[in-house]
Amino acid sequence: MEQYTHEDIPDYQMAAWLMAVCWRGMDDRETSDLTLAMARSGEQLHVCERLMPVVDKHSTGGVGDKVTLAVAPLVAACGVAVAKMTGRGLGHTGGTVDKLESISGLRTALTREEFLSILQEHGLVLAGQSAELAPADGKMYALRDVTATVESIPLIAASIMSKKLAVGASHLLLDVKVGAGAFMKTREAAHELARIMVEIGQRAGLYTEAAVTAMEQPLGRAVGNALEVAEAVAILRGEGPADVSQLCRHEAAELLVMTGAAPSHEEAERRVQEAIKSGRALAKLAEVCEAQGGDPQQIEQPERLPRAPVISMLTAPRSGYIAAIHAERVGLAAMRLGAGRFRKGDPIDHRTGLLLQAKVGDYLQAGDPLVEIHARSEEECAVLRQELLACYRWSENPVQSGPLIYEILT
Ligand code: URA
Repeated sequence: MEQYTHEDIPDYQMAAWLMAVCWRGMDDRETSDLTLAMARSGEQLHVCERLMPVVDKHSTGGVGDKVTLAVAPLVAACGVAVAKMTGRGLGHTGGTVDKLESISGLRTALTREEFLSILQEHGLVLAGQSAELAPADGKMYALRDVTATVESIPLIAASIMSKKLAVGASHLLLDVKVGAGAFMKTREAAHELARIMVEIGQRAGLYTEAAVTAMEQPLGRAVGNALEVAEAVAILRGEGPADVSQLCRHEAAELLVMTGAAPSHEEAERRVQEAIKSGRALAKLAEVCEAQGGDPQQIEQPERLPRAPVISMLTAPRSGYIAAIHAERVGLAAMRLGAGRFRKGDPIDHRTGLLLQAKVGDYLQAGDPLVEIHARSEEECAVLRQELLACYRWSENPVQSGPLIYEILT
C-alpha cells in the first residue's frame, strides 16, 4: 500500500492484484491487514485522542437516506460527540455532502484544524472526505471503477473501513442497506459485508456494530438534496415520516448505548425523544451549520431552502394498495431531474427531487396525490411521469410493509 500510494507500484500491477482478490477473495486477517495499511497510507486524525468517546456513523447508501443528517445532531444533543466525514453521491444514491451543500454557504471542505476545532467546540462536525485521508483507497477505488473490480466484498469492506480507521473515532455504527435501491442486493451479501466490517473494526480497536436495514422502497418520503435536508429537519422536530424517524431514533439510541452514555436501549430512546421534544437536536444541527459557514435560518425555517421552479403532482392512476415502490428506479428518476450524478464530477441541482405522497401499504383512490415532482422545467416533469408510474406495483388486497431492521451485528 505504501509503495502503491507513492507510485512505486504501477496501476497495471495493482489492477491484476485486485482482479485476483475478486476471484479468490481474502480471509478476515488479510482483509484487516489490508485495511490497516490503507488507513495508514495518509493523514490520520486520531479524533478520540481529543475527545472520548467520539462516535462515527456510516451508511452504505440508499435512496432517500438522510439518516446521518438526523442521527448525528440527535446523538450530539444527547452529549456524545460525533465526528463525521462523508462522501459525495454517485449514481442514484445521494451523498450526505451533497445534501449538506443545499444549505447556503455551508462549507464541507474543512482543514484538519477546522475539523478538530469544530468537533471540540460543538461536539459535532459534518465534513467532506479529505483527499489526504486514506489516499491508497482513493487511487484504488478509481482503478476498481475502470477494471470491474468494485464488487468484491473484502475490497468494499477495506475501502469503507480504511477511511473510518483514519478518522479514528472510538465507536462506529454501520448501516448496511440491502434491497433494490442499495449496493447490496441480497441479505446474504449484506450480512457478509456487515460481518467483515465489524471484524475489521474490532481487530483495530474501534468498537463497531452494524445494522442490516431495508432499502426496497425509498426511505422516508423525500428524495433529492434540499428536500432531504427539509425532511431531516422534520425528523428532528418529531414530525418526520414514520419509517425514517423510527430508524433515526433507533440508530441514535444504539450509539448512546454503545458508548455507555445510556444504560439501556429504552433509556437511550427516552433521551433521544427528549432531545427532539426540547428542540435541542434541531438547535444542534443549526449550530453546526452556522459553525461551518451555513445559514442556520434554513434549518430553523426549511421553507427557505432552495426550491425548484416547477412543482407538479403526479396522481395515482388507479385505486388500490401500494404493494411496492422500486427504490432504484425512483433514485434514477430523481437523478434525471438533476438530483444525482451520471458521472463523477457532474454538477447536481440541489433543488430538484421527489416527494412521495404514499408508501408501501397505503391505500389510494385513483386521482389521489402519488408523487410531487420538483423539477427545473415542465418538460422534465412530463418526461418523468411514465417512468415514475413504472416504479409502483399495486394490489387489490392490504399489503404489509416489511421490517426496517433485519439484524444487528456486534
Ligand atoms: N463505498 C466505499 O467507500 N468504497 C467501496 O468500495 C464501495 C462503497
